[in-house]
Amino acid sequence: MDLSDINMASDQSFIKKLTHERLKYYLTPSDHNYEAFSNIVEIGLTSKPKFLLPQYLYDEKGSKLFELITEQPEYYVTNVEISILESSVNEIADMYNEGILVELGSGNSRKTKVILNALFTRRDSLRYFPIDISHKILEESSEALLKEYQNLSITGVVAEYNKGITLIKKDTPSRKLVVLLGSSLGNFNPAEAKKFVKMISDNIQDGDMFLIGLDMHKDSNILNAAYNDSRGITAQFNLNILERINLELNGNFNSEKFEHHAFYNESKRRVEMHLVSKVEQEVNIRGIKEIIKFKKDESIHTENSYKFTSEQIENMIKESFQIVKIWTDKKKWYSVILMTPIK
Ligand SMILES: C[S@@+](CC[C@H](N)C(=O)[O-])C[C@H]1O[C@@H](n2cnc3c(N)ncnc32)[C@H](O)[C@@H]1O
Repeated sequence: MDLSDINMASDQSFIKKLTHERLKYYLTPSDHNYEAFSNIVEIGLTSKPKFLLPQYLYDEKGSKLFELITEQPEYYVTNVEISILESSVNEIADMYNEGILVELGSGNSRKTKVILNALFTRRDSLRYFPIDISHKILEESSEALLKEYQNLSITGVVAEYNKGITLIKKDTPSRKLVVLLGSSLGNFNPAEAKKFVKMISDNIQDGDMFLIGLDMHKDSNILNAAYNDSRGITAQFNLNILERINLELNGNFNSEKFEHHAFYNESKRRVEMHLVSKVEQEVNIRGIKEIIKFKKDESIHTENSYKFTSEQIENMIKESFQIVKIWTDKKKWYSVILMTPIK
């Protein structure tokens, strides 16, 4: 086998790349990515109010900054979720003892290792399908996992969640445990989240499982601190999207003329992240042939992170999934939920 072989996968919108006998990737062609990014920048920055989509925060630098966020003392999400996973994973692995592991938004796959370790105590080999829009982080984490787990085969899919899960459904009829951690579902508004959950249910079979981690509604001081860490890493992560536009779409944003603004919007139960223009200014983005005008204090809304109540979770999933079990921490800050699809 030629390990540097690059050819089109059966799905024409993916390129298949084999790099090792236990590692292959499905990649979205770069012109598709460019088109998708330039479209959203054009639509978002010419809308009122201005917005961008959170998945574009994760270029190579953004993904590294996100890893740093997870190490900040104020950002409790990662540690709380890992501790819940550690205490629940044996029970999960007992219930799911065959089939593949699919992870949506796998990032650096740090939490995945907790799941892999438990699955490998119950079987000799496993196929893992990480799906992430961020190419570099997916490659780096897949290569690290490949070295660490000799009996793991990895098919990485660099794509949006929906495209990735549909591809995997076509690629393999195996039983699936699909995981979505880091409260990433909270980036969708409630209607989108309900539709997304239904889409997952439609793409898996009877007996498959869906494991999801969700951040719960809590005191706004804790949430405000988590998204405004004292080292300013979340601010750098947010501002980096302007640098990405400069690099990829030939823009001339001066990120020093914008300010990170994140706050818990209690009535909408979401942390909103914005970039606020410190001055009146014009920005030229050649890739979209637009000059974007900003008034002083005008903002670009870059991300929502919805926080959940038990009732909302129940309402969001009840038409698509049946809950097998919910695990939480002592303070009830976070929930990990295992479900099976209703067919
Ligand atoms: C909040 S991070 C979570 C990473 C990891 N799962 C964790 O819990 O630490 C979200 C991850 O999902 C990826 N991502 C965000 N939106 C996505 C989308 N629409 N489709 C595919 N991947 C996405 C990002 O690149 C990033 O790696």
